[in-house]
Order: sequence, then structure tokens, then C-alpha cells
Amino acid sequence: MTLPEYPPLAKASEGEPFYVPCGNEVAMFERCHARGLAVMLKGPTGCGKTRFVEHMAWKLDRPLITVACHDDLSASDLIGRFLIRHDGTVWQDGPLTRAVREGAICYLDEVVEARQDTVVVLHALTDHRRLLPIDKTGELLMAAPGFQLVISYNPGYQRMLKDLKPSTRQRFVAMDLDFPGEDAEAKIVERESGVDAPTSRALVTLARRLRALRDRGLAEVPSTRLLIAAGALCVDGIPVREACLAAIVSPLSDDEALVGAMRDLVDGTFI
Ligand SMILES: Nc1ncnc2c1ncn2[C@@H]1O[C@H](COP(=O)(O)OP(=O)(O)O)[C@@H](O)[C@H]1O
Ligand SMILES: [Mg+2]
Repeated sequence: MTLPEYPPLAKASEGEPFYVPCGNEVAMFERCHARGLAVMLKGPTGCGKTRFVEHMAWKLDRPLITVACHDDLSASDLIGRFLIRHDGTVWQDGPLTRAVREGAICYLDEVVEARQDTVVVLHALTDHRRLLPIDKTGELLMAAPGFQLVISYNPGYQRMLKDLKPSTRQRFVAMDLDFPGEDAEAKIVERESGVDAPTSRALVTLARRLRALRDRGLAEVPSTRLLIAAGALCVDGIPVREACLAAIVSPLSDDEALVGAMRDLVDGTFI
């Protein structure tokens, strides 16, 4: 069996990815990494899960391989497949296999989107032997030192429709991430969008008011990511209320009553 040549994996990042911790997640992740434990990051969309993993990969000096999961993702997409070429058949590692061979951190983003039979291939990797059986080639790969499996999952989203099986959940150490506290979020929005401190602070105040609308039927509440987008539009000269409507209010709902309520909160925050 021949393996194609792969370009070397990029190191996680050139510089340190900016991340403001919200609790003890950094120390916890480090311990899990050292012990080879798989990690499940739980938290709403845009709360910083991806950024956290990027930061940790940098800190631990491991390459990071990210897979955005979707409902069509098959086990072969993760593990690899034979490719038929003019000069014969070659095996090509999938992203999970590459991470296992090279001791990278493999991050499966939004893992609930993936099919159950795809998720099951992770099981053998999460027990203490850390093995990846590759049925198609007959290989049984042992994970290289430094390999770590990280999955993310948004517990509020489509909870009834999709969920992880208990037998899968039990294989992970779970970390709950949520939107950062007020001061931390203001600092993040200011730094990431370049908007001035008072505007950043006001955007965070607005977000906290909007998040309270969850009880009134707002399915997805504004994330830190949306605040950063609004801040960036302000930096580009868009008036702040307009920026809030375009980057925060409108993306969140099509429902007239909810949009009206959110608009009122925007007007009340930026008088
Ligand atoms: N704790 C944090 N520290 C630094 N930046 C953050 C933090 N939380 C969120 N962000 C910012 O918000 C954006 C969205 O976060 P992201 O990690 O993509 O969210 P998720 O993966 O949870 O959907 C990031 O690109 C980053 O700019
Ligand atoms: Mg993400």
C-alpha cells in the first residue's frame, strides 16, 4: 500500500490566538490533554468554543485539525478512502487518521450534526488504548502522543431532534462554556472589532438585554460573534443603531414581534 505525500501540517497558529478565559477551562483542558482524555465543549453558538481550541492547540504546541460536521459526514470522510488514480490505487488518510498518526488535536465542530454511525468510529479512540481501527486497510493505529479528540456541541440547539447517545457522551470530559462575563465580553468585542471602549460596553449591555428575550421565544440569542460584527461595522462608519440592526437583530429572527422588541432595546440602549 502506498501513501500519498502530504504537505506538512501547519502549526496551530503563528501568534497566540487571543482568548479570554471564563473559568478554569484552560487548566482543565491542559490536564485532559496530558492524560489523553477526550473533551466535549458545550456552549451556545459563537461563545468562543472554536477560539478556545485554537488557543489551546497553540499553547500545547500541537497541530490542530478541524472538521465541521454535517449530516452527510461519513466514517470514510473522517478515516480515509482508497483513491483510484491513473497509476493505481492509493489510500488517503482522512482528517481523523492524520491527527491520530501525527499526534494532532482533532476538533469535530458541531458533532451532533454528524450521523450516529460516523460518531461511533470515535469510540475506540476514547478508551484508554486510544486505537483507531481502519477496516479498509486492516490497520490498527495507535494514537501518537499528543493526539487529542475534542468535540463541540450546542446543547440548546435542536435538542429534541438530535442528541449524542449516552454511550458516546460518557467517553468525554465535558466543559461548559458560556458567553463571557460583562467585563470580559466588552474587552473581547473591543479588541476583536477595534471599536472604542464605550461602544463596546454598550454593545455588551444590549446583548445582555437581548439575551433575556430567550424566554419570549428568541431561539438563538446574540453571540459574542454578532457583537464583534456590529462593532466592526461601526468602525467602518456605519451608525451604531444601523449596525446593530443589520448585524445583531435581523440575523436572529424573522418574527415581526420579536424584531420589534429587539429594535426597541437597540433604541433604548443607544439613545
Ligand atoms: N473568550 C473569548 N476570548 C476571545 N475571543 C472570543 C471569546 N469568545 C468569543 N470570542 C470571539 O467570538 C468569535 C466567535 O467565537 P467562536 O470561537 O467562533 O464561537 P463558537 O465556536 O463557540 O461558535 C471568535 O472569533 C472571537 O472573536
Ligand atoms: Mg465554532
